[in-house]
Amino acid sequence: MNRSLSSFLLATTASLWIGCTHSPATPTDPTPDPNDPPIEEAPPCDPEVVYFEQDVLPILQSSCGYSGCHDAATAEEGIVLISYASMMNSEESNLVVAGQPQNSELYDVLDEDNPDKLMPPPGDGGPLSQEQIYLIWTWLEQGALNNSCADCDSTLASYSGAIELTLAASCTSCHSGATPEAGVDLTSHPGVVDAVTNRKLMGCIRHDAYAPAMPPSGNPLTDCQIQQFQNWIDAGMPND
Ligand code: HEC
Repeated sequence: MNRSLSSFLLATTASLWIGCTHSPATPTDPTPDPNDPPIEEAPPCDPEVVYFEQDVLPILQSSCGYSGCHDAATAEEGIVLISYASMMNSEESNLVVAGQPQNSELYDVLDEDNPDKLMPPPGDGGPLSQEQIYLIWTWLEQGALNNSCADCDSTLASYSGAIELTLAASCTSCHSGATPEAGVDLTSHPGVVDAVTNRKLMGCIRHDAYAPAMPPSGNPLTDCQIQQFQNWIDAGMPND
């Protein structure tokens, strides 16, 4: 977890907030194989990212979107805080300004000195904890996305249940198509087996000195994802 409360407090009081700089890898051949099934699973949770579904929505549901306040029936001030869609369709146009927490009413009311404007109202659950306010601030700052992630299960070992998803999220933008990078095609089971057996795949993802670090830029795979590769190799690399 990199959600340091002290750096948040420093940043907000001293106006020195510096956002995360994630630079996604540039796909060289984005053409997907038409025979591949669509992969819709959420990506593994990145500790640097605040997710709407896992982090923000539970706060809204427990502290704002309940009966008599910002649920669908009451909709105080035309604001409904029970889902991403309901929030974005609220009558208050500055409720969520993506990338600009300081201009978003959603943040403003949480950090309000005037008890008449503070949300949730004092005595009705307000104010939220600094940790909760920090999560909402960071989510707004990171673009107020309707994002979600799946916690990684380090005991998984199956090709379709773990390996293929990780490769699709982090590798196949470069390792697919007619001319995959380094001649390594990671879109099929035989291609991945070959990359493990003959092309040092484990060394690449572990960032061992003898192999080029993969992915070459952006976030490395998590320890949990690397463990899943090891599990799958230990199981004999089945096409399961
Ligand atoms: C942005 C493009 C890009 C992404 C994303 C990417 N690679 Fe690579 N990959 C390359 C390039 C370029 C090379 C050749 C690098 C070199 O030889 O120094 C390479 C080489 C490799 C090799 C061959 C290494 C060898 O020494 O033979 C393997 C295996 C590999 N990548 C696996 C992966 C895996 C696994 C992922 C995802 C975790 C991944 N790559 C993500 C661009 C990429």
